[in-house]
Amino acid sequence: MIQFDTDRRLFSISTAGSSYVFGLNEKGVLQHLYWGDPVAAADCAPLLGSRLHSSFDAALDRDAEEFAYWGGLSYMEPTLKVRWHDGVRDLRMAYAGHRIERADDGKETLTVVLRDEAYPLEAHLIYGVRPGHDLIERHALIVNTGDRDVVLESAQSAAWSLPELRDYRLTHVTGKWAGEFQLRSASLTEGKKVLESRRGFTDGHANPWFAIDEGTATEESGKVWFGALGWSGNWKIVAEKTAFGRVRVTGGINDFDSEWTLGPGERFETPSFVGGYAAGGFGAMSRGLHRYQYEHVSPGRDLRKVLYNSWEATYFDVNAKDQIALAERAAMVGAELFVIDDGWFGQRSHDRAGLGDWTVNAEKFPNGLDELIGKVRDLGMAFGIWVEPEAVNPDSDLYRSHPDWVYHFPTRARTELRNQLVLDISNPGVKGYIVDFMSKLLGEHDIAFVKWDMNRTITEPGMQDHPLNRQKELWIRHVRSLYEIWAELRRRFPGVAFETCAGGGSRIDLGMLRYADQAWPSDNTDAFDRLSIQEGFSYVYAPKLMTCWVTEAVSGMNKRVTSLKYRFHSAMTGTLGIGANLNEWSEEQLREAAALVAQYKEIRPLVQGGRQYRLRALEHKSVDAVQYVGAGDMGEESVLFAFLHAQKLGDGLPRLRLQGLDPDKRYEIYGMEVDGAKDDGPEVDGVKGDGAEIDGVKGDGPEVERAKDVRSGRALMRIGVELPLRGDFDSLLYRIRELRQP
Ligand code: DGJ
Repeated sequence: MIQFDTDRRLFSISTAGSSYVFGLNEKGVLQHLYWGDPVAAADCAPLLGSRLHSSFDAALDRDAEEFAYWGGLSYMEPTLKVRWHDGVRDLRMAYAGHRIERADDGKETLTVVLRDEAYPLEAHLIYGVRPGHDLIERHALIVNTGDRDVVLESAQSAAWSLPELRDYRLTHVTGKWAGEFQLRSASLTEGKKVLESRRGFTDGHANPWFAIDEGTATEESGKVWFGALGWSGNWKIVAEKTAFGRVRVTGGINDFDSEWTLGPGERFETPSFVGGYAAGGFGAMSRGLHRYQYEHVSPGRDLRKVLYNSWEATYFDVNAKDQIALAERAAMVGAELFVIDDGWFGQRSHDRAGLGDWTVNAEKFPNGLDELIGKVRDLGMAFGIWVEPEAVNPDSDLYRSHPDWVYHFPTRARTELRNQLVLDISNPGVKGYIVDFMSKLLGEHDIAFVKWDMNRTITEPGMQDHPLNRQKELWIRHVRSLYEIWAELRRRFPGVAFETCAGGGSRIDLGMLRYADQAWPSDNTDAFDRLSIQEGFSYVYAPKLMTCWVTEAVSGMNKRVTSLKYRFHSAMTGTLGIGANLNEWSEEQLREAAALVAQYKEIRPLVQGGRQYRLRALEHKSVDAVQYVGAGDMGEESVLFAFLHAQKLGDGLPRLRLQGLDPDKRYEIYGMEVDGAKDDGPEVDGVKGDGAEIDGVKGDGPEVERAKDVRSGRALMRIGVELPLRGDFDSLLYRIRELRQP
């Protein structure tokens, strides 16, 4: 898969569906040559060579450099920028060798070593490819081989050079609290488009992922180049287009307010930036990324449990009695994991106090936490707990004893957000405190799941126990320390699953997902809003990693009213959870919920492990649809979720064409109904949605598919299925199973 052509001085990385080629030109510059459909590396040889345009420009080969060190004639976003002890700020990196290694699991790694001509510094450019994946894992290792300090002003993970395209359309996500993962795309013009976080964590305002296509790629077709960075702190991805029409995407740890002093003999490892090329559109890109996460990133291989979380039911008002009542109801509807959220510790009766004091509140739990845990376990569920270890309320015993443990500048006010400050977790005392209290909590109680939250950004980035000339290391030290804490806890408690949460989806990235089994994408649990949040999430991250809760009929976010079925369907497209106050649900609602949970468990292997297809063909009719395909016990299986936002002017819906099936197989298709189910949403104003008949399809359920229909994969994909959706916020779930000939 990885080869070096000694005669032509070409490196090539080939996967089943892509080639990536770069070489050493006559000036010794490591020049990117090709990335796209498979080609023979030798055919790229004519592309190698430097060209100069004018004395005002960099040599054009440097615009396509594999690792763009800053020095000499280079004006694009650099991948490495340093400051030497003598004030010199210039690099001249020359090729110094390479090696290709193969691990037992088939992973191949290429390491190309560049060395500065005059100063003792090496950059190791590392490329990893895994069998069966059209992805390249890149990062860099910067090594100080001398006996003086060198300051890294910027050390990026990788620069991805794009081929010449007619247009460069950049797709990315943007967002905000309660509105994360919103897709955006726009053509790049000359200059830079910067996606970044400066807030101390991954951030819900942007996510470290990009995709570029020629402007014509769809879900099903077209060439897409993409990359996802695994870093949970300040990051930066710069898509830069030159006046010569070249586009390079550089990414890694944000260099803003950041420096790292590399002492004699020390190494600095940048985070992994995974890049890929997909010839089958955005859908193929996402499926490739999902499979990579399932096979090589996510720590837990098991199916994720159906969870119940008590946050929206009780907020801070938790006590043993109410939580036990909730647990009984959660078990009744089929939850497998009961998670108590914020409010169980210290003086935490609101968000103004107690954060940092991780002892069980004796008034709320007079018999200790184990009374609740025991009950939950007796009910057949696992127990999970919420923590926010990186933050502290000033009104807490922890802060009163250690006011200097938080990031701050001595001469400045400490900005409080949600009445809390951020702990300097790279301080060994703080780190020890967190590992100790977490170990005590997980060691003394039967806890199987931790929801790790973080509800504010970092401000006043000053560390009290760190040298003044190294204060800008904070952003990196926080993330590294966080990873070390999670790694240590996972090592000590291998049976505990973790969820990453940061006031919603502000810390979801390939770095965090190495430690977290699942992620909380947003505090917005409105089932309709969630569809676009979940869709944006799915461009990069896998459905199994996405926790989705069913909450109340009237959304606390926006007062939107939706049916139980709709809310369940929306949440069933990822890892299902329930976050409503079940103590107030009627018997009938509980029964319907139990039936829907049971359905989810039936289709869970497909949702959590199958290939996901976003069906966007009926978006203009306000239909969202997503399909999962995989192998079931009886052959190939699939499920389809479809959601109608708002029907207008009596319009019926065209058929929806499915994807991913075998055209020559025959499939049985039927609607997954819940017997006796009653919509609790639309009934609010007494109107039941069984209106007129359109095209012989009655509008109150998937009548056609309910009578198991048999169709060929070809028919399902070319002609499509009926969608008897009506009114506002209607939804359906179809199950599609291969029909085996007797
Ligand atoms: C923010 C999270 O996103 C919520 O789910 C909840 O855990 C609260 N924090 C608790 O304070």
